[in-house]
Amino acid sequence: MHPTGTVPPAENVLNYSMELTVDDVKNELYKRHHPSLTSLDIEVHAKTIHKIRTLKQKHNVVMLGHNYMEPLVFGLSEKEEQGDSLGLSMFAAKTEAPYLIFNGVPFMAETAKILSPDKTVLVADKTAGCSLADNFGAEDVRKLKELYPGAPVMIYVNSYADAKAESDICCTSANAAHIAKSMPGDTIIFVPDIFFAQNLEEELKGVKNVVYPGKDNTARGAVCEVHERFTLSDLLAIRESFEIPKEHPKRKLYAHWECRPDVLQEADYYGSTSQIMKDIAARVDKDRLERAFIASECELTSNLAQEFPKVQFWTACSVRCSHMAKVRIDKIADILDALDNGDDLTDYEVTLDPEVIDKARLPIERMLEASI
Ligand code: 13P
Ligand code: SF4
Repeated sequence: MHPTGTVPPAENVLNYSMELTVDDVKNELYKRHHPSLTSLDIEVHAKTIHKIRTLKQKHNVVMLGHNYMEPLVFGLSEKEEQGDSLGLSMFAAKTEAPYLIFNGVPFMAETAKILSPDKTVLVADKTAGCSLADNFGAEDVRKLKELYPGAPVMIYVNSYADAKAESDICCTSANAAHIAKSMPGDTIIFVPDIFFAQNLEEELKGVKNVVYPGKDNTARGAVCEVHERFTLSDLLAIRESFEIPKEHPKRKLYAHWECRPDVLQEADYYGSTSQIMKDIAARVDKDRLERAFIASECELTSNLAQEFPKVQFWTACSVRCSHMAKVRIDKIADILDALDNGDDLTDYEVTLDPEVIDKARLPIERMLEASI
């Protein structure tokens, strides 16, 4: 676990409106005052960051960055290009740029490809997985539909396109409860995240019946291998050792929807990564946050620490998503080099069967419509 200090505010993105030299990039990075960004990091990476920034502009590339990206990667995206799964999907749907580099895991990039099939969608590492998406497929959706005929299938965005193609509507952690309520009938099938489904079941008690893999059935589901690591006893120990008691006006414990149900219930606030960020921003604005622990992927806290330097953040550095961690500065530079040299982009390009795109677009578009 590590705490973050109290240092002056800094911008977490470079100034994209002007041409920068390598020294400008270095100066901007030094001004960030990030607690885990050392001068060594800056000296090692400044040249590569400068190249990425220059080629990004030259080729009109949109670079989307998920909130779980490590700070140096996260900062490569402009403010509006950063976000949670929902925000990034919405941005991908409306952008005009011909190339999208998606700094996140491939299921996220698939969503961008489904919404913008004419664009070239690129990822730093096509082998990066996700314990939710990797352990659930189209066949699993069909099995649940047979078990609960007539009930609509709501699929969490952390899934691959073939599973989405079999589902009625998609959702993210930012809109799941809202989307579920908008569905016809009194029962929904939620897949594939079992903890998320149990959390949704609790949230919708008396409003909707939520069925999911493993609930009175033997269907296959999955959990997030990162969020499952937080247990209730961890959270209680954290409250004690970091002095974040319940009901404290300025000290808060946050959790992501993918956490275990007892962890979520213990948290002072739960939401998607961007909702957690927004709640923190609102509290900081009113001078109502001095310390926070975030039960989620470790780099979310790194990015928060940079954005809100006056708050003392605690996180568990061991809780890093090994899939998200595959997205590295040097690999992003390789994509842009390939693009600049006119090389084959197969190693980076996300491609999908056009038939799957057509079928998977509907549940995603329904989600976007229902989210407005
Ligand atoms: P959100 O950013 O949508 O909250 O998602 C978290 C996550 O685990 C993505 O893999
Ligand atoms: Fe998947 Fe969990 Fe990693 Fe998100 S944090 S990509 S849900 S394994």
